Amino acid sequence: MSRIFDFIDANQPRFNQELFDLLRIPSVSTDSALKAEVRKAAEFLSAQLSSAGMEHVQIVETPGHPVVMANYLHAGSGKPTVLIYGHYDVQPPDPLNLWTSPPFEPVEKDGKVYARGASDDKGQAYIHVKALEAWLKSGEKLPVNVKIIIEGEEEIGSPNLVPFLEKHKEELACDMVLVSDTAMFAKDTPSITYGLRGLAYMELEVFGPNRDLHSGVYGGALTNPLNALCEIVAQLKDENGVIQIPGFYDDVLDLSDEEREAYRKLPFDEEGWKASIGIESVNGEQGYSTLERKSARPTLDMNGMWGGYQGEGAKTVLPAQAGAKISMRLVPNQHPDKIAELFTAHINKIKPEGVRVKVTPHHGGHPAMTPIDFYGLKAAGKAYKDVYGKEPLMAREGGSIPIVADFKNVLGVDTILMGFGLNTDAIHSPNEHFSLEDFHRGIKTSARFLEVLPEFEKD
Ligand code: BES
Ligand code: MN
Ligand code: MN
Repeated sequence: MSRIFDFIDANQPRFNQELFDLLRIPSVSTDSALKAEVRKAAEFLSAQLSSAGMEHVQIVETPGHPVVMANYLHAGSGKPTVLIYGHYDVQPPDPLNLWTSPPFEPVEKDGKVYARGASDDKGQAYIHVKALEAWLKSGEKLPVNVKIIIEGEEEIGSPNLVPFLEKHKEELACDMVLVSDTAMFAKDTPSITYGLRGLAYMELEVFGPNRDLHSGVYGGALTNPLNALCEIVAQLKDENGVIQIPGFYDDVLDLSDEEREAYRKLPFDEEGWKASIGIESVNGEQGYSTLERKSARPTLDMNGMWGGYQGEGAKTVLPAQAGAKISMRLVPNQHPDKIAELFTAHINKIKPEGVRVKVTPHHGGHPAMTPIDFYGLKAAGKAYKDVYGKEPLMAREGGSIPIVADFKNVLGVDTILMGFGLNTDAIHSPNEHFSLEDFHRGIKTSARFLEVLPEFEKD
């Protein structure tokens, strides 16, 4: 291992520069004007995988953005096969005026690189590309078989990845998936995420009169769509934060007593957390802690709302229409399609008289859980311990990586979520950043994981 770690130490300045080059590519998957840029990121990664010594490097077309795929299968059939997954697409950078430096011009400040995608997920995905290079260039024999896919559509819900997995099922056969696209519990606190939430994302539109109306001439005599929208949304939770959609909780897997006990022992700094986002008090479902609420309980939140006059000053108008975007984060074993149906039925039932509603589901995703006794997690734990000097914590996280459930369904394998980000990295937000120290330690942890995995027994 020391040769590999020496290689990583000696080449880290170059690795950083390469990451900066990747971050300069504005690969925003949702922006059709940037389609060619998204492809450039795929080309960059395929070139890097080739020069790292990976084999069968391909850019595989999909109806959307391409998937970069490669493998290195020389450990022998008795040795485990790891499939590494990551995404090279990023969220839109707006609002641009809140960035202190341009989102696609990476800068280093206080040991962190600032750019869109630095943490989610270019920096974290690139960790594995460099760990593989370290193995293949340092002259040591890689003791496991490795496959890698890096996709370009995660931030738009991976619409083409399940068909991709099905089509390449044999080529992607493996014993486990390794993903770095989550956060550590805190700085210098390595963490393994064993659960992710799923998602049902809905758009709700409310239609009233056939045109905007003078609020004095007409007001008081008809249902205002914007008021109706607010009434509907206000009824979706009760005063205890419990979601009121009938059947919503039916499939929820409750936290086990052991899990709640383990959660209580996690070193969560609630005051620091509140301060970091500028709030004075926490709020959520009664009977659950903040950590439980934000990672292991389902949610219902407006993500946007519109209708009526938004400009300067006052305009007296009853809007003809109003709308909202509503996300529901789901926990094991809720099903996104079922939840979308329950939501739609409930909205139609509670809508006030005098307006029409339209409910449109957007992308969803299944929640996921990795059994905490999975041998791959033990190997990951050893790798973290050897690099960070500490055993990783085990926690669930509130974000979603929908493809993780499909790795289980299609490929039949569990996923190791080996995150190196921090919740304070401002992912999806202005001034996203990633610690270069964790980029470096991540490369070592990934490399070490590939070395120690064969020592751990398949259950
Ligand atoms: N990497 C994130 C998910 C994440 C972040 C998980 C932090 C755990 C901790 C991923 O890129 C993401 O943003 N996912 C979306 C999913 C959606 C686009 C289907 C999300 O969670 O909103
Ligand atoms: Mn991500
Ligand atoms: Mn993301």
